[in-house]
Amino acid sequence: MSTTVSSSSSSGSLFFFYKCSFIFLLIVRTSECINNKQPSNPRRPRELKVDYYLKSCPQVEDLVSTVTSQQFKDAPVSGPATIRLFFHDCFVDGCDGSVLITTKPGSTVLAEKDAQDNKNIAVEAFDSINKAKTLVESKCPGVVSCADILAISARDFVHLAGGPYYQVQKGRWDGKLSMATRVGSNIPRANNTIDELLKLFASKGLSLEDLVALSGAHTIGFARCEHFLSRLYDYQGTKKPDPTMDPRLLKALRMTCPRFGGNPKVSAPFDVTTPFTFDHAYYSNLEAKLGILATDQALFTDPRTRPIVQALGKDQQKFFQAFSEAMERMGKIEVKRGRKHGEKRIDCTQHMLL
Ligand code: HEM
Repeated sequence: MSTTVSSSSSSGSLFFFYKCSFIFLLIVRTSECINNKQPSNPRRPRELKVDYYLKSCPQVEDLVSTVTSQQFKDAPVSGPATIRLFFHDCFVDGCDGSVLITTKPGSTVLAEKDAQDNKNIAVEAFDSINKAKTLVESKCPGVVSCADILAISARDFVHLAGGPYYQVQKGRWDGKLSMATRVGSNIPRANNTIDELLKLFASKGLSLEDLVALSGAHTIGFARCEHFLSRLYDYQGTKKPDPTMDPRLLKALRMTCPRFGGNPKVSAPFDVTTPFTFDHAYYSNLEAKLGILATDQALFTDPRTRPIVQALGKDQQKFFQAFSEAMERMGKIEVKRGRKHGEKRIDCTQHMLL
């Protein structure tokens, strides 16, 4: 296992609400806001390597980190948004930077970025990747893929927020296709059952353990009211709130998210105790009925995933190790290699001309 781990806001109105032992933070954002398949050609295995750019661009990680660390200071929203961007890239036809493509002006075929599930990913995440790519191009022209820059940036932001620093395997090529219609069925929904999540993750070569570890990314970042509104007012058609939500959290979230006419940009932090730190509090929050999405809380309710939630909630190092390994596996989903299947873009937002 090559994964080695070491440990080390946003715009708008900020409303701090401190009660008992936990914090509720409400934010209005003003900004828009392994695969297991065998390689088809054994002479060109789809293997990624940590030192893939050793000769062609040895300084690539330093270049990217210059941008990510500045971005983390200037626009911290880039952190969670980039981690989510990487996840949405990998789950939709593989980790190939296809989520970064901009729809051609006048085209009726929308790119992935314009799909409903990606529209609310903060623009700062895209900016960060484009800035890193520009810097890398200035030193190593035509060598490093946008897909790799996204993978490295996601790791950097995990680490900058206090999470593990793991080695990123590289060698992905960029995808030649980016279609909004491919997104919906490949991205999990906040009201999915654990069975549905397991099926989707398994279709990407990811396990039950990976599902629980990767969901730990919700230790930072925010969710808009629409994703948990039914839990507050009409859980599964009962006209009552979700009984698996702590009543104090319910009250705070109801104040943030009215049943009707709420501001669609209002969001609540996933981790109500340590919202800006990448730590394992996400899991102990689930044990305390403080999960925000139904899918988060379901990880504790379901007897298959509960023991993993408990184990990761007890031991931060265990979470960091599991998360790093799961990110490595997620980063290998349907990786493309070579000119036949991929491209190396100069501008991450545009496909290369044929
Ligand atoms: C397990 C199934 C998952 C579901 C149902 C899910 C759902 C969601 C939803 C509904 C949001 C809020 C979006 C919004 O309000 O605009 C969100 C945000 C987020 N997700 Fe997930 N997610 C899942 C897994 C993951 C995974 C695997 C990762 C990364 C490894 C991830 C990382 C994030 C991050 C960091 C945010 C916060 C983004 C921000 O604040 O800008 N999620 N997710």
